[in-house]
Amino acid sequence: MNGKEAIKRFAKILRESKSIFVVTGAGLSAESGLPTYRGIGGLYNDRETDDGMPIEKALSGPVFRSRPEVTWKYLAEIEAGARGATFNRGHEILAEMESYFDSVWILTQNVDGFHSSSGSTNVIEIHGNLHRMKCTECDYKDTHEDYAGFELPPRCPDCNGLVRPDVVLFEEMLPASELERLHGCASMPFDTVISIGTSSNFPYIVQPVLAASQLGIATVEINPDETDLSVVVDLHLKMGAVEALEGAWGLLMGNHERQ
Ligand code: OAD
Repeated sequence: MNGKEAIKRFAKILRESKSIFVVTGAGLSAESGLPTYRGIGGLYNDRETDDGMPIEKALSGPVFRSRPEVTWKYLAEIEAGARGATFNRGHEILAEMESYFDSVWILTQNVDGFHSSSGSTNVIEIHGNLHRMKCTECDYKDTHEDYAGFELPPRCPDCNGLVRPDVVLFEEMLPASELERLHGCASMPFDTVISIGTSSNFPYIVQPVLAASQLGIATVEINPDETDLSVVVDLHLKMGAVEALEGAWGLLMGNHERQ
């Protein structure tokens, strides 16, 4: 099937759906200019840091506790790579879809906050958000557009404790509130589950697609590359997120009537 036919099939699946569940990863924000974690140009590709450890170690809970300056150095690097970037047409289309479908839920691994800033309302940020800060010692919380002017590692203005972004570091637990919202989605009647721009490395990311497939719910993957899910889904659009979403959304909007 060529790209055009795949987009047509995607549009047909969407037209027949009333509610959709969307899983997103770094590939969607790649089109905003952010680096992905793995694959071409990926941040974690065999990367040994200047601090003599793999980047996953530097960005882990245990290293943050023992050497916060190391973790902060790489958190700041990720933030600097994303600074000035904003959501793209793919994020916008997912937000616009809320007025077309009865229900749209997004499970994202991205910590950039682009889904909410582009207008999506039902967003589960399972890996947290880089812009939200919290103190490790007291209840202090704040949001920061970027980390410009931060003295690393930053200290709490209230208690001088260590401040960190509200993100999930390696070897840390997922946030309970977001897990609860995700579990709540399991009992919702979704007609289609779409996975966009993720290498599908984590079980909680793969599971919604596998469960949908087992239940006979339509499943779609948008990724220029193959992943373990590519052979599971009903439709794999082997292309960038914006091309696939714009293509299908254009077909749907050009034809408002549901069939
Ligand atoms: P990855 O970097 O692992 O995977 C990005 C995926 O996006 C790859 O499969 C690419 O082929 C695909 N891709 C690249 N460009 C694309 C495009 N224009 N359109 C669509 N897809 C594209 O990113 P994630 O799967 O999101 O976690 O990684 C998940 C987690 O790994 C991150 O949240 C982060 C990291 O460890 C934590 O920090 C806890």
